Amino acid sequence: MDAICETVGCGKPSKLRCPTCVKLGIPGSFFCSQDCFKSSWKAHKGVHDMTASSKDQTPQEALLSSRKWSGFQFTGPLRPYPVSPYRPVPAHIPRPDYAETGEPISEQQAKRAGMIRVLNDEEIEGMRVVGKLARECLDVAARACEAGVTTDEVDRLMHEAAVERECYPSPLNYYNFPKSLCTSVNEVICHGIPDTRPLENGDLCNCDITVYHRGFHGDLNETLFVGDVDEKSRDLTKVAYECLMKGIDIVRPGTKFREIGNVIQAHASANGYSVVKSYCGHGINSLFHCAPNVPHYAGNKAVGVMKVGNTFTIEPMINAGSWRDVSWPDDWTAVTRDGKRSAQFEQTLLVTDTGCEILTRRRENDGLPWFMDKK
Ligand code: MF3
Ligand code: CO
Ligand code: CO
Repeated sequence: MDAICETVGCGKPSKLRCPTCVKLGIPGSFFCSQDCFKSSWKAHKGVHDMTASSKDQTPQEALLSSRKWSGFQFTGPLRPYPVSPYRPVPAHIPRPDYAETGEPISEQQAKRAGMIRVLNDEEIEGMRVVGKLARECLDVAARACEAGVTTDEVDRLMHEAAVERECYPSPLNYYNFPKSLCTSVNEVICHGIPDTRPLENGDLCNCDITVYHRGFHGDLNETLFVGDVDEKSRDLTKVAYECLMKGIDIVRPGTKFREIGNVIQAHASANGYSVVKSYCGHGINSLFHCAPNVPHYAGNKAVGVMKVGNTFTIEPMINAGSWRDVSWPDDWTAVTRDGKRSAQFEQTLLVTDTGCEILTRRRENDGLPWFMDKK
């Protein structure tokens, strides 16, 4: 198979390589033409930082002393590591509108209307198919999360799993997000960028996967244990999972979307944990994020009542300490303000006559999450 052009959104077969990457020994970096190489230069040149370090600095030290990061007050022990080059998706795989530009135009237009869609039978079937494929990709990522493995490697495996299934990894270039899934480690609440940090024994690593297949998105996440995790983190993860399940339990026609936050926060608080407010569940269909907005905290004012044929996510982020979040200077990584750990689970749901269908459910081990598997 030919290599594919790494110009964002291009995906054409290509043989030319970036000469600087060849010199530095950075793999990949293929471009189909001089024009594509030129148009990609601004975005691409950053990957040379991966290896371009001075004698006494590792690539990560160089990154931390860069203009973007120097002076930033980290809230906990985690630090960013260099991010590998953009991974292209072959041109034959259908892609969402933002794949080239980074701007989800159709989503922004729908937002103005604010309508909660009721899907027809054909659309529901499309959501079932993508839900199953998204689950398969999450299972690939989950199997990869081990001590010593970088989250970049998890990204590579997940990206390949998506491409093999004729899926576009939805995060890739969504508002310019640089990778194919989110990996949120320890104090990261959500939207962590896969990078070259090796996972460490005792880490929590949330893998959040969304894929786009034949016009529909499916979205799920799980928090995984890396090796032996301390008792407190295991309890936090278990409670986050229970919070999701308690939310799912009340999904049926007639339930108000604002009720979900009440049952989730009641369970989190009863266990001494807090609920993140800045990030919410969301409608999902041919759009990645749309109405309804689904807050996970109590007393929210979310609009709408569930109807048969609605598809949306529930994805509570539960914190060991404060509910407050801050963003890293990469403008994506959301961390806890007190540096304590956070855990999350997510499923894509379909409202049915009798309750709901979990479109992204696990198809093995009775649907239980990976952290409950015996190792
Ligand atoms: N998958 C996330 C969610 O649950 C969204 C990630 S957006 C990204 O809604 F750009 F960060 F990938
Ligand atoms: Co998600
Ligand atoms: Co989501």
